[in-house]
Amino acid sequence: MAKYNEALTLRSGITLKNRLIMAPMTIVSSFHDGAVTQEEIAHYQRRAKGVAAVITGTANVTDNGKGWPGELTIATDNAIPNLTKLTEAVHSQGAKAILQIFHAGRMTHATTIGEQPASASTVAAEVPDAELPRELTNAEILEIIEAFGQATRRAIAAGFDGVEIHGANMYLIHQFFSPHSNRRTDAWGGSLEKRAAFPLAVVKRVLAEVKQAERPFLVGYRFSPVEGTTPGIRLEDTFYLLEQLKTQELDYLHVSLRHYERKSNSPDFQEKSELAYLHEALAGAIPLIGVGGVRTGNDVDNLLENAEFCAIGQQLLIDPEFPVKVLENRADEAVTKSFAEGIYDVEMSEPTLRYLEKRYN
Ligand SMILES: Cc1cc2nc3c(=O)[nH]c(=O)nc-3n(C[C@H](O)[C@H](O)[C@H](O)COP(=O)(O)O)c2cc1C
Repeated sequence: MAKYNEALTLRSGITLKNRLIMAPMTIVSSFHDGAVTQEEIAHYQRRAKGVAAVITGTANVTDNGKGWPGELTIATDNAIPNLTKLTEAVHSQGAKAILQIFHAGRMTHATTIGEQPASASTVAAEVPDAELPRELTNAEILEIIEAFGQATRRAIAAGFDGVEIHGANMYLIHQFFSPHSNRRTDAWGGSLEKRAAFPLAVVKRVLAEVKQAERPFLVGYRFSPVEGTTPGIRLEDTFYLLEQLKTQELDYLHVSLRHYERKSNSPDFQEKSELAYLHEALAGAIPLIGVGGVRTGNDVDNLLENAEFCAIGQQLLIDPEFPVKVLENRADEAVTKSFAEGIYDVEMSEPTLRYLEKRYN
C-alpha cells in the first residue's frame, strides 16, 4: 500500500512527488470562447500547493465538442498563450499540470454549440433536458480523433506536463464504449471489441503526438466503470477495456467514482468495493488514480489501499489547504463545512460559488 507522501515515477519518466492529485473539476468560469480567465488561474494556483499534480477541468478539442458555457477550450491554437499562464501558475506551486481533454458528444445542447449535438448513434441520453443527437459519419469520427492529437500538440506547446483523455462521465469517448449510446454496425460498434475501437484510436493518436514532443509528457485515461442504464457499461466490459488500455503506453488510469467505497451494481461483484476490483484487475501493470468522497486524512489512507494515487475533488474546493494539512499530519484541521453552510472565505465569484453549491454532494 502506498503512503500518501511517497514519490512515483511514471512510464513517461515524469515523477509525481506524492500521491495526492487535484481531481478535474470545471468551475464554469472560462470566457464565452473558452479562454482561461484570471479567476481560473487564481483558483488552480491556490489549490496546486501540496498536490503532486493538478488535473484541470475538462477542455473541448473541437468547437462542437463543447459541453457547457464557461468550459475551457483547446480547440484552436489561440488557446495556447492563456493556457501557458495557467501552467505557469500551477508550476509556481511545485505541482505538475495536466490538461483534461474531451468531446461532449450527445451531452451538450444546440444552444451551446449552435448545431444539433452528435454522437455514436441517434439515441438520447437518459438525463433531463437530453437532446436527440445525430450519428457521426466515419469521416467526422476520424476528424475528432485527429482533433485529440492536435489538442495534445497544443497542450505540449502551452507547457503542460501531460493530458488526461476524458473517457468517463457519459461524454463522447464513453458514448462510443457504451452499448446504450453506441448502436452502430460499422467498424466503430456492434461488439464489445468494436465499441472499444474509438477509445483506443484516440489513445493511439494522442500517444503518437507525444512521440513528437521534445520532453517527457504524460498521458492518462479516465473511465467510468459502470453505468446505470440498460443496456449500459458493466464491470465485465470495463475489465475488457482495461486489458486493452494496459497494452498502451499510458502513464496512469483514472477511475471516475462518486465514492471510493462504492459497491458495484452487478450482483457478481459484491465482496469488495468497485475500486478494489479494478485495482486487482490492473495487477500493478499501470498506476490507478482512485477518487470519490475523500474528505479526511483517513479517507486518503483508506483509498490508497486500492490505488496508487488519491484524487481530491470537492474537499479541495472547500479547503484549498487540505493536501498540505494531510502532508503535514494536520488533516484534523481540515475544513469540513459544505457549500450549503457557506464557504465565504474561499475566493470565488458569486456565479461560480452558486454553481458549485448546486453540484455539491
Ligand atoms: C464542480 C465539479 C466539476 C467537475 N468537473 C469534472 C470534469 O471537468 N471532468 C471530470 O472528469 N470530472 C469532473 N468532476 C468529477 C470529479 O473529478 C470527481 O470525480 C468527483 O467530484 C468525486 O470526487 P470528490 O468527492 O472528491 O469531489 C467534477 C465534479 C465537480 C463537483
